[in-house]
Amino acid sequence: MATIRDVAKLAGVSVATVSRVLNQNGYVNKETEKRVKQAIEQLNYKPNEVARTLFKKTSRTIGLIVPDISNPFFPELVRAVEDVMNIYDYTVILCNSDEKGEKEKEYIDILKQRYVDGIILTTNQLTIGEVSKIDVPVVVLDRPLDHSLPSVIANNYEGARMATRHLYDIGCRRIAHIQGPLHVVNAVERFNGYRDEMKELGLWDEQLVFLGDYNLKLAKEVTLHALQTLSIDGIFAGNDVMAVGALKAAQQLDLDVPNDVAIIGYDNIPLSEMTTPELSTVSQPIYQMGAMAARLLVKKIEGQSIEQSQHKLPVQLIQRKSTMRE
Ligand code: RIB
Repeated sequence: MATIRDVAKLAGVSVATVSRVLNQNGYVNKETEKRVKQAIEQLNYKPNEVARTLFKKTSRTIGLIVPDISNPFFPELVRAVEDVMNIYDYTVILCNSDEKGEKEKEYIDILKQRYVDGIILTTNQLTIGEVSKIDVPVVVLDRPLDHSLPSVIANNYEGARMATRHLYDIGCRRIAHIQGPLHVVNAVERFNGYRDEMKELGLWDEQLVFLGDYNLKLAKEVTLHALQTLSIDGIFAGNDVMAVGALKAAQQLDLDVPNDVAIIGYDNIPLSEMTTPELSTVSQPIYQMGAMAARLLVKKIEGQSIEQSQHKLPVQLIQRKSTMRE
């Protein structure tokens, strides 16, 4: 494979001149630049990316850390980030932290060693002090971390109030909530929206709240227990994966969904349309969130001015059969 020295020799210039042409920095006269480019083409020379990265301390790559790649919400988010980053000629290094702070910190160190140009965090495990030590631009996506950081999130609180009010509007009066992980800010925001709506409706009862951790099996188990020990006629699950678990539990107990118990989830992942009955949900603008975060990061990396660095996107109620009562 041709080296930079082979190119310099063929073009009759120094290695430094070839490097200036490759990196487009420093003066090279037009005739010399033309000879160098001809030599590169003739030898089919490919710059050594590792060497280039070490020299320029940039890699045209970004790191994207997600907490649970097994949850269908994240692949759609990752797809959007990758599509936009590729438009701007950046490569994405995807990291899955398994909702573990320590694993996330290890990935941050690895990404810094690889001279990534920026990082998108869809977790909220690090403190703002830890994030501020990251010496490249950081954008927060989906899970709020700190108001000082550029971020793209959706309106979790309003979405939860919409879901709860929807169950009330179809006649539910004993509405349970299956909550996501206590350390995840958007799960807490959704709980707050559910609680405030229930208080406004005069239906609040803390015994109707169960921890599902955004987890399918746990949500099924806690729903089985709840449906057998309490009178519940509506369930708002903090994400669609838990709503699928709740649906499984209701059907295992031979309960009719929605007429015995109505169920609504949150996210609008494709799976929510594949269940029987199809799941009502609160639709997050997943792709739009990922794309906006990627564009925000590119602007930060390239030093462009940013009119607005905090974005909170609206969500939308999607009614399907799991809340359509006869
Ligand atoms: O389903 C996974 C959840 O975690 C989603 O609601 C998303 O907001 C992410 O934070």
